[in-house]
Amino acid sequence: MSLTKTIASAIAGLAFALVSQNATAQDYPNRPITLIVPFAAGGPTDVISRIVGDHMSRTLGHQIVIENIVGAGGTTASTKAKNSPNDGYTLITGHMGTHAASVALYPNLAYNPSTDFEPISILAGTPVVILSKKDFPAKDLKEFITYVKANADKLNMAHAGVGSVSHVTCLLLNSLLGVNPVAVPFNGTGPAMNALVGGQVDYMCDQIVNVVPQINGGTIKGYAVGTAERNPALPDLPTAKEAGLPAFEAQAWNAMFAPKGTPKEALDKLNAAVVKALDDETVRKRLLELGSVIPTKQQRTPQELASLVKNEINRWTPIIKKASSTN
Ligand code: MLT
Repeated sequence: MSLTKTIASAIAGLAFALVSQNATAQDYPNRPITLIVPFAAGGPTDVISRIVGDHMSRTLGHQIVIENIVGAGGTTASTKAKNSPNDGYTLITGHMGTHAASVALYPNLAYNPSTDFEPISILAGTPVVILSKKDFPAKDLKEFITYVKANADKLNMAHAGVGSVSHVTCLLLNSLLGVNPVAVPFNGTGPAMNALVGGQVDYMCDQIVNVVPQINGGTIKGYAVGTAERNPALPDLPTAKEAGLPAFEAQAWNAMFAPKGTPKEALDKLNAAVVKALDDETVRKRLLELGSVIPTKQQRTPQELASLVKNEINRWTPIIKKASSTN
């Protein structure tokens, strides 16, 4: 082939690649999108993903299909998401555990939360509540602390796997109390909550999204919320500071990520769909009833999520190292 023909064919090939990439970006999405939830169905990550994902499906014109992949405190699913095709058709809801705390707990973590994912948007802030089974012999946080300190070797604590929010925040609680109860892992706090209601486990630290009906219905006890202010969904529940444990500062968050290298056009459409969902009155009502904190417009940018991940890794790493050394 002559040099002119070779150059012409290379240019034609490049032009075709650019046109088809553009067409792909323009008609994104043209089929259902999988949203991986790294915990069992019915728990907080699942519930938030379904509420927001359902509205996004309508905006995008294609279904967001939830796929629950459980194991290792959400790190199994996060590894799978990292290794999925970066074409905008596989996403993950990560949280304070999978995309921050796990860094300190898994020395061989197979992904880097900051560099292996494209941040899309924060979905919800989720204050963490200290809970027990309903017949636990304590009526408030002071009595809970006294009883746990005196009986830790007979108690067990539920969590959703090493590195999950429920694990890490109870690690903080246990280290503040100087106790080391038996830890019972579940595939999510959905099933862990069933065990708490059933009285098979003694206590748990869980995201508020999973606890409001149970506390209001008296099937479990709530002692304190780990945020600076009380939560409007549970106005009678004191803050940990009010109840005498100010160092229990525990607010988690859930956020949407895509594998690194997902096209910007897809990321922009996904971010716009999240923003629209979080402005929708029905979505907001549902999230607020469950005690979530809805991110402000400014907090819904990919840049905000990227800096949240960075700040949370920096915040939780020393807390976990200290708590692990005393537990
Ligand atoms: C956690 O503890 O990380 C969560 O509550 C997990 C879940 O969504 O079940």
